[in-house]
Amino acid sequence: MENKEIELFVPGRLCIMGEHSDWAGRYRDVNNKIEKGYAIVTGIEEGIFATAKISDKLIVKNTISKKTFSCEMDYQELKKIAESGSYWSYVAGVAACIKEQYNIGGIEIKINKVTIPEKKGLSSSAAICVLVTRAFNQLYNLHLNTMGEMNLAYLGEITTPSRCGKLDQACAFGKKPILMEFDGDRITVKDIKVKNDLHFVFADLMSKKNTIKILGDLNKAFPFADNEVETNVQKGLGEINKKLISESIECIEKGDNEGLGKIMIKFQENFDKYVAPACPEELTSPKLHEVLNDKNIKELSFGAKGVGSQGDGTVQVLAKDEKTQNKIKKYFEKELKMDAFNLTIEHTKPVKKAIIPVAGNGTRMYPITKSIKKAFLPIIDEDGIIKPVILCLLEEVINAGIEEVCLVIDEADQPEYDNLFNKPLSADVTSKLSEDMLKYESKILSIGKKITYVYQKEKLGLGHAVSLCKNFANNDPVLLVLGDQLYKTKNSKNCTEQIIDSFEKSGMLTVSVTEVDKKDVSKYGILCGNIQDKDNYFFVDKMVEKPEESVAEEKYYTSYYNQKKYYAVFGEYILTDEVFKKLDEHIKNNVKERGEFQLTSALDEVREVHGMVAYIPDGEMLDVGNVKAYKRTFEKKSND
Ligand code: UTP
Repeated sequence: MENKEIELFVPGRLCIMGEHSDWAGRYRDVNNKIEKGYAIVTGIEEGIFATAKISDKLIVKNTISKKTFSCEMDYQELKKIAESGSYWSYVAGVAACIKEQYNIGGIEIKINKVTIPEKKGLSSSAAICVLVTRAFNQLYNLHLNTMGEMNLAYLGEITTPSRCGKLDQACAFGKKPILMEFDGDRITVKDIKVKNDLHFVFADLMSKKNTIKILGDLNKAFPFADNEVETNVQKGLGEINKKLISESIECIEKGDNEGLGKIMIKFQENFDKYVAPACPEELTSPKLHEVLNDKNIKELSFGAKGVGSQGDGTVQVLAKDEKTQNKIKKYFEKELKMDAFNLTIEHTKPVKKAIIPVAGNGTRMYPITKSIKKAFLPIIDEDGIIKPVILCLLEEVINAGIEEVCLVIDEADQPEYDNLFNKPLSADVTSKLSEDMLKYESKILSIGKKITYVYQKEKLGLGHAVSLCKNFANNDPVLLVLGDQLYKTKNSKNCTEQIIDSFEKSGMLTVSVTEVDKKDVSKYGILCGNIQDKDNYFFVDKMVEKPEESVAEEKYYTSYYNQKKYYAVFGEYILTDEVFKKLDEHIKNNVKERGEFQLTSALDEVREVHGMVAYIPDGEMLDVGNVKAYKRTFEKKSND
């Protein structure tokens, strides 16, 4: 049997705000007057690193502690271990749930590194549950999405004596902040867009807290409150929590970090007033309040609050910036003698999706395109590896931070893409590959996981190919990269990263351009405007397809001081939602030019209403769409 090894990383998770509302919201199943639970949760940098492969048993090797666990994939046996609450109960609990639902074999997991501190409210147990679920999911192609992984990991964890809330498995979503909504048994997850980097510091208060007592006492207020204290707990974890969470999200999305800090302070005040009286022994938390009132911490931060089940466990501080973040961490460690770590939540990247259309016929490359698609032509890349064009392109966009790619292909080509991106190599081949090439092979397979495919049945032009990705774009700005052009940067950021950075500043439809000789203008789409000073962009006034040289000299140039310059499309675009609307309109009304739906005309119409930026990257475009250009690209890529 083919036995590939996969690499896994699952981070710990942190509840930034809204703790306890997850389990409180679950009581809506019994009492629908209870408010839904809302929490802002994020994955952190620290986590569990492992490798996994298929095996007939469940084997978990911890290479750090040198402990090994081995068990037959037997439901009863696994359940018994899970219920025992022993060290391996979490992995056994997940495997038991998997075995209960799927008729599959075992896996061998090797835990190579754990950077997440245990028992610090960072859900190391949930991370291991998600990791085991993910290993089964990927090795046996169970087709679980992140939500599915999260739910299965939860079932695994509650098979053990641990009574985690449903919030813990949010680590499945990785290192990004999300809003979780808890309505009875239903959980909804929404991404939160972060406008400005958030610099948090977390510190272990080096005291004691009893989470079981806190949970026990607070749960007494549910599902029906019997007295004022209990009514207040429901209010604190319900309507007040809802209001503060919604205000916090507004601040995060607007980039008002100072406002967020103020809400954190308010959150703690409300928790102390409405929730703490239900468990004063644990929630009066003198140590926490000492830190919250510390003059130094107050001065360096926008706000602070308790974390997790609250009590004297961990404190969370929102620093004013990166510098004060480090000062606070040092202050905790040196002066207060508390373990502390930083968590920076970076601002949300403006463009996370890319479209690469590769369904064209490639007639200019006949007859090679009769037997091989343009996207699969070989290139010796700058790293010396010989790879198909499409792989060079995918690496370029993924290195620029793109997380999902939609390839527009001819359906008949699907097996070729599957072969490259999804099918593991046979043992015969892997046994002969070098260590480096084996690593590259797993990189290819992980790139494959980021790709979705859309089929273009009729070759109706680039505009048509792009329009097929409307659902994929789903109103978000997307990067469009032509499938037959490669890029070579001249600075530390690749060309794709450069155009994304430019878009982040303007938020406007953006097309990358490159300067061409006047004598060549008739080969390209030309964009014109005015370049101010040393800017590397201009606002586009006019766009024209392949103008005659003399006409271009008269009308289609870009002014730069007193010079006339000519800028041609470079092959990368950041498309806004308006472009998809315009393309749809063209298709509905059968607006074609030269027999095809043209992207350029749709872009020009959007430009007229909403404006367009032409961005000049510091790099070179290398074409592979015609024989002469392909020869040049091949030599340029490999020779440098
Ligand atoms: P080209 O204009 O280079 O077309 O498309 P082509 O068909 O690939 O090549 P020739 O002109 O016949 O030699 C630019 C990009 O858009 C894709 C192509 O695959 C290429 O990556 N494309 C073009 C589509 O996906 N569908 C289309 O209908 C047209």
